[in-house]
Amino acid sequence: MDKFVIRGGNPLLGTIRVSGAKNAALPAMAAALLTEEPVILENIPQVRDIETTRKLLTAMGAEVELGYGRAQHRTTICCRNLNAPEASYELVKTMRASTLVLGPLVARCGRARVSLPGGCAIGTRPIDLHIKGLERLGAKINQEHGYVEAVAERLKGAEITFDKITVTGTEDLLMAATLAEGETVMQNCAREPEVADLADLLNKMGAKIEGAGTTTIRVRGVAKLHGAKHRIIPDRIEAATFIIAGALTDGDLNITGCDPAHLGSLLQKLQEAGVKTRHTPDSVRVEGNANLKAADVVTEEYPGFPTDLQAQYMAVATQAEGTSIITENIFENRFMHAQEMLRMGANIKIEGRRAIVRGKTPLSGAAVLASDLRASASLVLAALVADGETIIDRVYHIDRGYENIEEKLRGVGAQIRRIGEILPKRRGSGAA
Ligand code: EPZ
Repeated sequence: MDKFVIRGGNPLLGTIRVSGAKNAALPAMAAALLTEEPVILENIPQVRDIETTRKLLTAMGAEVELGYGRAQHRTTICCRNLNAPEASYELVKTMRASTLVLGPLVARCGRARVSLPGGCAIGTRPIDLHIKGLERLGAKINQEHGYVEAVAERLKGAEITFDKITVTGTEDLLMAATLAEGETVMQNCAREPEVADLADLLNKMGAKIEGAGTTTIRVRGVAKLHGAKHRIIPDRIEAATFIIAGALTDGDLNITGCDPAHLGSLLQKLQEAGVKTRHTPDSVRVEGNANLKAADVVTEEYPGFPTDLQAQYMAVATQAEGTSIITENIFENRFMHAQEMLRMGANIKIEGRRAIVRGKTPLSGAAVLASDLRASASLVLAALVADGETIIDRVYHIDRGYENIEEKLRGVGAQIRRIGEILPKRRGSGAA
């Protein structure tokens, strides 16, 4: 298992280019299941979840070409011959977003068998709303042996009101509704830019969707979708992580290839904390501040402050003067990073869904454990301002969603390197 070794203390200076959004690329790849024709996706990030999705689609008989070059990160997916509309436990347990194939498979093939995801490090994360929505569209659902099976000769348009806002739930049902007979109206939808990006792709494929990016989405079902070419939006969470790195290290970073319009809640929070940012239509320049001020954060659905940035912001709160209260409203167990930051010298008290962070505390390098993707990113950020060396274990979590984070950070002056696990010598083996 790889680890990161980070020596803190360097201000980060220079330019970092943002990759394509993992959470937009995953549903876009699933959308290719809706047509027999090739779908070409550009700006695909080179991260492990994309590789898992490739495996998932290939196991069903899809042809997936995936290439990463200097200029283009591109995949071409052709789902002409789907032989097994199934997502196995083996794949779903490594990536919950695999459940995004449920809607498209039942819409295109008339049936789908998808493993139910089990527990997750950050919360229980059921998929009951995906299932309820498919039932509204006329699918017959059977749950047995850890799998959900959905069958429908042809889905039928319906009114769906989500009991709770769900990002992949909205995406799953949006894809299903494109091939349903008649009109579907979905209320209380997620407004994340990734949902709007998926709708853009689906409309290029011949779908008739209006309202994506708002709480109400209307879909007029069509008989068939066709191939299309689409460029995935920039990763707002990756961009935000680097903006925070610039702010924290008292650096001067230019984050390019991003969309500042998707970063409003973070930029406003940083301003409250005393950080100066400026932006152009596709870049953000951040200047750090050695005198950060405390600011409270409450995670909410987009356009509110993202749960996917809560951990990273906690690193800022440890370095801000005063008490910051961070409230996590989306997932019930998303404070695992706090325990690790405590080991680095932070002053954090967890009270249910609230973390009370008292700053400013000097951090000191320590051996810490990454528990999930965004928690790993937060520990990298904390390590960048810690005194001495931090060793972060289980960085495979970060490889799921950040493309080459160590190279990107090294390019702007961070002292970060990856080391592989050093296996103990076996007695008598003589092996090096
Ligand atoms: C998406 O997960 C993202 N994943 C997550 O990013 C992100 O944290 C999350 O949205 C919230 O923004 C992808 O886009 C691939 P939800 P998703 O359904 O769709 C409850 C990352 O680090 N819920 O919006 O699975 C659920 O338990 C990841 O990149 C139900 O109760 O999240 C949670 O409390 C982690 N029933 C809330 O809704 C359901 O059927 C929001 O979850 C579905 C969800």
